[in-house]
Amino acid sequence: PLRLAVMASGEGSNFEALVEACSEGRLQGDVVVLAVNREGCGAQRRAERLGIPCQVIDHRHQPSRQALDQALIALFRAHRVDLVVMAGWMRIVTPVLIDAFPGRLVNIHPSLLPSFRGADGVGDALAAGVTLAGCTAHLVSAEVDAGTILVQAAVPVLAGDDRQRLHARIQTQEHRILPLAVSLAAQRLAQG
Ligand code: GAR
Repeated sequence: PLRLAVMASGEGSNFEALVEACSEGRLQGDVVVLAVNREGCGAQRRAERLGIPCQVIDHRHQPSRQALDQALIALFRAHRVDLVVMAGWMRIVTPVLIDAFPGRLVNIHPSLLPSFRGADGVGDALAAGVTLAGCTAHLVSAEVDAGTILVQAAVPVLAGDDRQRLHARIQTQEHRILPLAVSLAAQRLAQG
């Protein structure tokens, strides 16, 4: 089984969805460690409940983005991680991390890329007035939200949607496609 690490900044619902997919056998892997950059975030509490090791690496205590990435690399090497999943990691990663895990870094983004890259994919889609929104799981490359697309799912934007309602609909799909994307990334690695 794959040894997976997850990076999260927020609620951690995608982290938990990955753990569930592993325990239900939909993903041949184990989440061996969670990294969070915010002490006390929802993801950390979920890790405690699920019995998964969690390391807080607070970006405010790091001198640079590169130093934050180095700390993550050290953590993942110590846990002999095969694949890393950014599940609501709200910091920009640098080539330091990307080059340490070539083809092994997966991100979930709440828009149908290449539309609405960046920090507020859901709000930007609403503001643009699109009637179809969604999510994208992709490999991470140096350009933000622009790596190879692995899996996407679309959802309708419904009358009366606000950011919260639309995001909830998108997240239901994220929880479904993220384990699929991790399996696909692992297949790509096996094929060289
Ligand atoms: C997810 O919807 C993810 O797509 C988004 O953060 C949310 C985290 O939810 N990521 C980004 O916006 C990345 N730019 P979660 O903590 O419940 O998994």
